[in-house]
Amino acid sequence: MSILDKHKAIETNASLLLILSFLVVSIGGLVQIVPLFYLENTIEKVEGMRPYTPLELTGRDIYIREGCSNCHSQMIRPMRDEVERYGHYSLAAESMYDHPFQWGSKRTGPDLARVGDRYSDAWHVDHLKDPQSVVPESIMPKYGFLMNQQLDGKYIGDLMATHRFVGVPYTDEMLENAVADFKAQADPDSNYDGLQERYAKTSVRNFDDRPGVSEMDALVAYLQVLGTMVDFSTFQPVASR
Ligand code: HEC
Repeated sequence: MSILDKHKAIETNASLLLILSFLVVSIGGLVQIVPLFYLENTIEKVEGMRPYTPLELTGRDIYIREGCSNCHSQMIRPMRDEVERYGHYSLAAESMYDHPFQWGSKRTGPDLARVGDRYSDAWHVDHLKDPQSVVPESIMPKYGFLMNQQLDGKYIGDLMATHRFVGVPYTDEMLENAVADFKAQADPDSNYDGLQERYAKTSVRNFDDRPGVSEMDALVAYLQVLGTMVDFSTFQPVASR
């Protein structure tokens, strides 16, 4: 009996084919899944990562609401062309406080995982209001209306509590000061010492250059922190330590 004949026996018997296929697929699955049960954590801890401030978290919600992820990914793949264009490839730890994560696979526009600190706040505001005014060939829609939506941060504590429920390490102190921290980050004249104590390396600026806290402030605060928490001048992956 040749090998093809043996195979015929399997292919002409639906139950046998099903059982054998199941076995093969199970082995593949087990090889991938079982090791995960023996690891305490699949994310390598990296210095510098902190939860989003109340204002940044609000900006992230606006980013999700407006569907920015339909055109923008937030994951730099470890390929040379990506790293040369966008910077250090994304680490798992960099999205460990993202619920849901924004990795994405659709890039109508560029990856935004490291867009933080790359442009000025004014550039972002101009670009969001009218992308074609700074990048004439852009097909990105206009988001100027975000300037007119004022926010009081009333519900930000609830949103943070929800994130804590799924594992983001917000402390009681962070939750108690949520509204104050929310307002302080967009107002350089306020007392923001507490905010900066609770959240390392937080930029306090009037992002949209207008009084009050608008959705534009929140979104730009979020964009400006993307990819900036880990200091890559000192970072070394575990494998090369
Ligand atoms: C229809 C697709 C589309 C949507 C939706 C979209 N963008 Fe864009 N975006 C682009 C394109 C294309 C570019 C490149 C041209 C440009 O800079 O405008 C871009 C560029 C950018 C840049 C500059 C990136 C860089 O490295 O130069 C930022 C920041 C940005 N978008 C943020 C956003 C945000 C925030 C939202 C949601 C409020 C959003 N985009 C929604 C298509 C989109």
